[in-house]
Amino acid sequence: MDIKIPEHLVQYCQNIVKPVSGNPFQIEERDKGTALSPEQIRRMQEDILHLKKERNAVLLVHNYQAPEIQDIADYVGDSLGLSREAAKTKAEVICFCGVNFMGETAKILNPERIVVLPDTDAGCSLEECAPAEELAKFKAEHPELFVVSYINCSSAVKALSDVICTSGNAVRIVSKCPKDRPILFTPDQNLGSWVAKQTGRKMILWPGCCYAHALFTAEAVNQAKKEHPEAKVVAHPECLQEVKDVSDEVCSTEKMISYCRENPAREFIIVTEANMIHRLQKECPGKLFFPLRVRGYLPECRHMKKITLSKLLDTLRTLRPQIHLSKEIMDQARAPIERMLEWS
Ligand code: 13P
Ligand code: SF4
Repeated sequence: MDIKIPEHLVQYCQNIVKPVSGNPFQIEERDKGTALSPEQIRRMQEDILHLKKERNAVLLVHNYQAPEIQDIADYVGDSLGLSREAAKTKAEVICFCGVNFMGETAKILNPERIVVLPDTDAGCSLEECAPAEELAKFKAEHPELFVVSYINCSSAVKALSDVICTSGNAVRIVSKCPKDRPILFTPDQNLGSWVAKQTGRKMILWPGCCYAHALFTAEAVNQAKKEHPEAKVVAHPECLQEVKDVSDEVCSTEKMISYCRENPAREFIIVTEANMIHRLQKECPGKLFFPLRVRGYLPECRHMKKITLSKLLDTLRTLRPQIHLSKEIMDQARAPIERMLEWS
């Protein structure tokens, strides 16, 4: 297989995720919102639950959302679980708390329903790393490619893909891909290289990565292990290989819950977005979880943090902002998503 990713794409992706000095997870000033008292949080949660009923809405929430949002969800989970929930819901309105590509996936699976996301600017660095025009160009130059796209990508990239995967099913999906076609894996090279290793399938890797997970280092893990020598290390596959090499388990955010619940260990170092700890503590009482910090900073995804309780309340009041996509894109993107749901 002698297909090479052009150098300008490597540069392009490196620019998107280049590390910054100071707090790399700094939330933008306009996204900070006002600090709420426990009483204000409780009242807003009650209003949200009331409106949710009135609107016949289902509240789907990703594991990286703030605790006060997770606590009132109908379903909290990883991208795979959320896609499955979106595919089977009968609610009139899907209110999604996560990033934009997750809301778009729900809309593609439910074109007739109203899908709202409290802030449609909540993006993802992986999505940014894969512009659809570049993928279309690359595919035109190499029509033999079988394209597997991680769900963290735009609808236009999904529309150009043969099958979608999530971190929870990527190994299974790639092992089912045709053996007589070269595979292009987009956009996460860290998940892609891990899947290639697990499945033994050679793949061409799009050079994207998650700005947050790429900041964890093996050195930081080893330091945390010294501080918590009894702890097991659990890392997300979006982390660098050097981090995965020193971890006890590499898995999706959902699998982290069952791994920590079933493992006899009492302490765990968690190498992913920090809000993951909330569900782990709730579902594994009596166990201790230590988020791995980066240069002393708590790793919070600045895109996920755009969703706040007050934006969620406004969204249920106004049913805005809604996700809108062209019929053409939705129809093209639905087939590879449905293929993923069938294969997993
Ligand atoms: P999961 O599907 O494992 O929840 O991952 C989603 C994600 O965005 C990780 O950064
Ligand atoms: Fe995207 Fe990374 Fe945030 Fe996940 S943690 S949504 S991959 S930027």
